[in-house]
Amino acid sequence: MTSHLTDRHGRTKRKLRISLTDRCNFRCTYCMPEHPDWLPRSSLLERDEIVRLAGLFVDEGITQIRLTGGEPLLRRDLLECVEAIDALRARGLQRLSMTTNASRIAPKARQLVEAGIDDFNVSLDAVDPDTFRALTRREIEPVLDGIDALAAAGANVKLNAVVIRGSNEKDVVPLLEWAMARRLPLRFIEYMPLDAPGHWQRTAVVTEQEILDAIGATHRVQTQERGHDPATPYLIDGEYPLGIISTVSNPFCSTCDRLRITATGELYTCLFSPVGMPLGTRMREGVDDEALLTQLRRAVWLKDAGYASHPGPVERPLTMHAMGG
Ligand code: GTP
Ligand code: 5AD
Ligand code: SF4
Repeated sequence: MTSHLTDRHGRTKRKLRISLTDRCNFRCTYCMPEHPDWLPRSSLLERDEIVRLAGLFVDEGITQIRLTGGEPLLRRDLLECVEAIDALRARGLQRLSMTTNASRIAPKARQLVEAGIDDFNVSLDAVDPDTFRALTRREIEPVLDGIDALAAAGANVKLNAVVIRGSNEKDVVPLLEWAMARRLPLRFIEYMPLDAPGHWQRTAVVTEQEILDAIGATHRVQTQERGHDPATPYLIDGEYPLGIISTVSNPFCSTCDRLRITATGELYTCLFSPVGMPLGTRMREGVDDEALLTQLRRAVWLKDAGYASHPGPVERPLTMHAMGG
């Protein structure tokens, strides 16, 4: 399908992340403060508003939608949202995914797969319960149960781990070996300057090279050809696929094919944009689809070159849990 969503740097957009809620039952230190101020409930997009926006983006050439949060499972009408977005396959949607902390997914895993979720990315920063608790301020057991339930439901699961110096750095190899034993693909993520309390420091970033050095001490690491994924792919011990998302040490901005909508319907063309385009507000003012399309095409066209062009902490009122991770 042709895409009308190409920016002024020649990057065509195929992936849209939609945050279903800013609420989360976890309090990951790298993402939000311990006592966050939630957005007013009335400002969150209703299901029909989400589906209307998603449909416009699909008509414009978006083929992959990822549902994020906060934590998507906190949305009461989650299954209905998934079913309604799944119906956009008739208009060109090819893949529907979800990013979750998995702690509340066990009872719903099968229903979500049946409703149309093709794959799940689960945040798991450590397998050591104490390290996990220090990072997320929550317990690990429900997450492990959630991962088991997804596997039992036949879901495609990938793990995400943000690596922070002095915190879960020592867990890199144990987590890798845990994931290898279960044949669950894993991506390590460099700590990005987007945490809510503003604790980020460059010295806390464990870089891709440092992660590779730690793994290389006990495992064979082969480089793979890079695709459109944010992660650089590696093969461990000749068989296991590992990814590393190196936004800080090696940004992938030049090939970025993604857009994001916050829980209130703001379009952020870049994870590091200081401002978004308030499509949700425009919808509530009663604008028609043509006017929304004009605005979103314009926002996409103006998309910034990206983090690589202005590395460092971003100042804006929104943090990761409200942005959609
Ligand atoms: P797939 O590639 O579809 O599996 O998913 P994903 O990696 O895009 O989604 P996920 O929600 O698992 O995101 C994992 C991590 O990717 C996030 O924590 C970010 O570190 C990184 N990421 C996601 N979107 C962006 C983006 O737009 N820019 C940058 N620099 N990093 C991003
Ligand atoms: N740096 C890197 N990744 C982050 N995430 C949330 N905050 C940060 C940050 N400051 C990740 C979560 C989750 C994904 C959606 O975003 O770990 O896997
Ligand atoms: Fe894409 Fe912006 Fe992220 Fe760069 S910083 S990869 S341009 S979203």
